[in-house]
Amino acid sequence: MVGRYVSLVGVVISLALAGCGSSESGGGAGQAAESAPHSGEQTYNRYCFSCHAAGVAGAPKVGDAESWAPRIAKGPAALLQSTIAGIAPGMPARGLCTSCSDDQLAEAIDFMVLRSQ
Ligand code: HEC
Repeated sequence: MVGRYVSLVGVVISLALAGCGSSESGGGAGQAAESAPHSGEQTYNRYCFSCHAAGVAGAPKVGDAESWAPRIAKGPAALLQSTIAGIAPGMPARGLCTSCSDDQLAEAIDFMVLRSQ
């Protein structure tokens, strides 16, 4: 009886370990990517591109170093702050991505800044 109990515990432990192992291997990586769909580039392409690619309503165009320089000079914290709050009238709060976390917005800003220096 005790022996069966011990071997059952062994099976449970090895299943748990197998579960952990597989989530770190190839298949697991795919799942992780799906549950975190917002890289900076993806967030930009989905929410920011519509204004920041063409410079709609005076938005600083990605790739236009001249219009980004004075903004970049404010530092990343200030850019994140104005992105979260928005800048009336052109820049909507959170760049219209209400589901984005502050970190995801910061990554999207990094993506834009890196391409605009
Ligand atoms: C509806 C158009 C629109 C969308 C969508 C948009 N922006 Fe903007 N954004 C603007 C405009 C216009 C400005 C310029 C505002 C100004 O300085 O008057 C701006 C400015 C900015 C700035 C500079 C802020 C500063 O302090 O100088 C950052 C950073 C920025 N946007 C990030 C983003 C991010 C990140 C997204 C997507 C999550 C986004 N924007 C989506 C229109 C947009």
